[in-house]
Amino acid sequence: MFAVEKKWTKKSTDQVLVIGVREEDDELPEELEKGSKSMVAALNKQWTDGAIKSKEAEVTNMTVLDDGEHLQQLIFVGLGSDGDRTFADLKDAFGAAVKAVHDQKAVKVGVLLDTFCAQEAGFDEEVVTQAWSDAALTAPYRFDIYKTKKEEQRNFTYTIYIQSGESEAVRTGIHQGRAFGQGVNLARTLVNIPANDLTPAALAEEAEALANRHEKVSAEILDINELRSLGMHALLAVNRGSDQPAQMIILRYQGEETWGNPLAFVGKGITFDSGGYSIKPGHGMKTMKSDMGGAGAVLGAFEAIGQMQPQKNVMAVIPATENLINGSAMKPGDVLQTFDGQTIEVNNTDAEGRLILADGVAYARHLGAGKIVDISTLTGACVVALGDVMTGALSNDDALYEVFEKSAEEAGEHVWRFPTHPRYEEMVRSSDVADLNNAPGREAGTITAGLFIGSFIHGLPWIHLDVAGTAYLERETPLGPKGGTGVMVRTLATLAQQGEDNYGD
Ligand code: BES
Ligand code: ZN
Ligand code: ZN
Repeated sequence: MFAVEKKWTKKSTDQVLVIGVREEDDELPEELEKGSKSMVAALNKQWTDGAIKSKEAEVTNMTVLDDGEHLQQLIFVGLGSDGDRTFADLKDAFGAAVKAVHDQKAVKVGVLLDTFCAQEAGFDEEVVTQAWSDAALTAPYRFDIYKTKKEEQRNFTYTIYIQSGESEAVRTGIHQGRAFGQGVNLARTLVNIPANDLTPAALAEEAEALANRHEKVSAEILDINELRSLGMHALLAVNRGSDQPAQMIILRYQGEETWGNPLAFVGKGITFDSGGYSIKPGHGMKTMKSDMGGAGAVLGAFEAIGQMQPQKNVMAVIPATENLINGSAMKPGDVLQTFDGQTIEVNNTDAEGRLILADGVAYARHLGAGKIVDISTLTGACVVALGDVMTGALSNDDALYEVFEKSAEEAGEHVWRFPTHPRYEEMVRSSDVADLNNAPGREAGTITAGLFIGSFIHGLPWIHLDVAGTAYLERETPLGPKGGTGVMVRTLATLAQQGEDNYGD
């Protein structure tokens, strides 16, 4: 789908040509001078008239007569100013460009890569190619597997024109962008598949299929009998209201010579959240097929990791169940025994995520995790605090968090760290009858939910991510449609690529 060439020649006339325009640019890019005299004159006139826009993600479509016979289609993409641009902005601009390309008839796309680079601002050819190859896959994503009439699939070919020619950096960029794009699209699809089809068993099958696609990834699924003999009563309690048996999904990616000390991703796999007896109102329940967004992000990251093959051991732990209601379902007031021995009073059956994650995190420790990142669509409070713009985070380890924050920035994703405080920890322990209280109240809801899970970490370096507002969107973005977003796939995959020396411990 991607080819690399040194020079754009005006012979490529059945191709849409995409050109970046930075606010700093004061003339047409020199590559375009290869067009005919009349074409260059026409473009120069448009340029000086200000018809070609440079504002961030602004697209200018133009068709000019090249040699008096052939029409050349051009798409100019505004990049804003070098000083202000973040990687996330660059990706948004590419998303807008890819959408504009898809509105054209042509399936051949040429990209004047040098016009998008700005070395001084940190946008070298590797970063820029990566963002292109990612956007080419993620911006046109559609979830149409249930539509009987599907949009026609067109196979686009992208030719990257870069004056310095094909290099290791460009190849790496293409590869990494593809790995991210496919990982993100997998996570989106898993979130979008309705709960009648994406049962916990179906999620486990997806994990097994993923392991079969990648040589260094292996899958292990614990069935309900194994969960019973291991004593995972928090996960089992949530599962009691459902006819679909719970699953514990474990994936191992072995990137080091020997297995050990893995970075563990623990993802919430609630395939549907009705709230249980603390039932949700209709409008709040409508999108709750997305309550496995944490699990989706972990599987998406594993898809990317499987393709990129970093030299690090990584593990995924995904407790999966529905949260429904029947005669055996858990009830407010119930007390549960967790895998690690601590007891929990269930004040609210809708705070089920932290219950299954308690067993998930404890099991990750049991399997020898060196560091843990848990990720979940955990609290409505996080949606209130950060909206759909940022993922909420908590951590007990500044050094690990610093690496994580850098990874999120490199990946072009937004996170916001909440504070911790002993008083919040007391709130989590405010049960009269058990060690922990799963719903201490509305105040500081995202922090107390995170610290509840933190009670099962026992000092391991840990990051907690709440994607309740970001995993499923009610609006379209430059890089995708409404619905599952695949948020944090790129960040987790980038974190897994960081060298051990970067972790500072
Ligand atoms: N799955 C929900 C959280 C959620 C809300 C995700 C909105 C996505 C969008 C979670 O299980 C839940 O219901 N949490 C409760 C916890 C409360 C009862 C302590 C909440 O946030 O209201
Ligand atoms: Zn819930
Ligand atoms: Zn939930």
